[in-house]
Amino acid sequence: MGGRYQEVVAGLQATPKTWLVTGCAGFIGSNLLEALLRLGQKVVGLDNFATGHRYNLDEVQKLVSARQWANFTFHEADIRSLDACRQAVQGVDYVLHQAALGSVPRSINDPVTTNDVNISGFLNMLVAARDAKVASFVYAASSSTYGDHPALPKVEDQIGKPLSPYAVTKYVNELYADVFARVYGFGSIGLRYFNVFGKRQDPEGAYAAVIPKWVAAMIRGEDVVVNGDGETSRDFCYVENAVQANILAALAQPDGVNQVYNVAFNARTTLNQLFDYLTHALANNGVVYDKRPKYADFRPGDVRHSQADISKARRLLGYEPMHSIVQGLEVAMPWYTQFLR
Ligand SMILES: NC(=O)c1ccc[n+]([C@@H]2O[C@H](COP(=O)([O-])OP(=O)(O)OC[C@H]3O[C@@H](n4cnc5c(N)ncnc54)[C@H](O)[C@@H]3O)[C@@H](O)[C@H]2O)c1
Repeated sequence: MGGRYQEVVAGLQATPKTWLVTGCAGFIGSNLLEALLRLGQKVVGLDNFATGHRYNLDEVQKLVSARQWANFTFHEADIRSLDACRQAVQGVDYVLHQAALGSVPRSINDPVTTNDVNISGFLNMLVAARDAKVASFVYAASSSTYGDHPALPKVEDQIGKPLSPYAVTKYVNELYADVFARVYGFGSIGLRYFNVFGKRQDPEGAYAAVIPKWVAAMIRGEDVVVNGDGETSRDFCYVENAVQANILAALAQPDGVNQVYNVAFNARTTLNQLFDYLTHALANNGVVYDKRPKYADFRPGDVRHSQADISKARRLLGYEPMHSIVQGLEVAMPWYTQFLR
């Protein structure tokens, strides 16, 4: 554990706080929920189960103690309702806003709903949090904001044109957050996640992310389909690294607020390499996959290469990612083999 994170965690354990995690039934949100409850924090969760699942909450309940679970209050609600946001944020110290509709292809198929949730819903949460005078507001931004900018690794202040409606929504979040600081003096921090993976990331459905989608196909003995030539690359980030970034951001020093940060590991993995990593990690869990991948067309809206410079988060937040992609897959794989059995 990095020094700053250790210090922050010890402080929270000594003086527990109340957190709002929106999107708590989803992948990243449920991992945040679990981590905060384990640290003895009080957590208010909000989710409408659009893409999250009640069984994710049930699983967290099984993983924490009864005493820790008693610190959790759940609002089944929609961030498109300002009233719902206001209710959820009452009495909260720190907000970790994760609720949104992810997936580039989903936003291409249905830009209106993605816009409603990701922009209007985001604005509702900002207004509710501002009025409730929370101590900090951290939100899920996205590496998709780099769009067509060719530079590698990605540095926070060099972005290109968005390549999808989803990327537009995540960029607009940053613009609103910035304007709320200027106009209302309301501080926030955006975390630009880069391809987060780990337990409870949904393997099902048309909009599944590449790691859970491929793992599910491999466990079921189905074809793995690569979009493009397999040399597309990503900076895959194990979810525990993202949890650390959220907790550090919520307790950032004043010079770290009103900023956006890359949240990744700072390594670049091609899809072809990913295929090999997954076959190895599955073999270590007793699943043999001996087919070769099938190659299909590139997907519209996808960025070709992605790798994060994480020096800003290191410097201003004390972020020290603990898991590489290989280490993260090692931890996550037993969960997938159990879940998909
Ligand atoms: N997973 C990644 O690699 C990644 C990368 C970049 C950004 N993000 C962002 O991180 C956040 C969490 O993503 P995730 O991967 O955990 O996705 P997820 O789909 O598992 O979680 C999102 C959660 O938000 C909830 N939600 C959606 N619409 C809602 C609404 N109108 N009201 C209330 N709740 C609603 C869903 O039910 C779900 O539980 C999102 O904002 C996403 O855009 C994720």
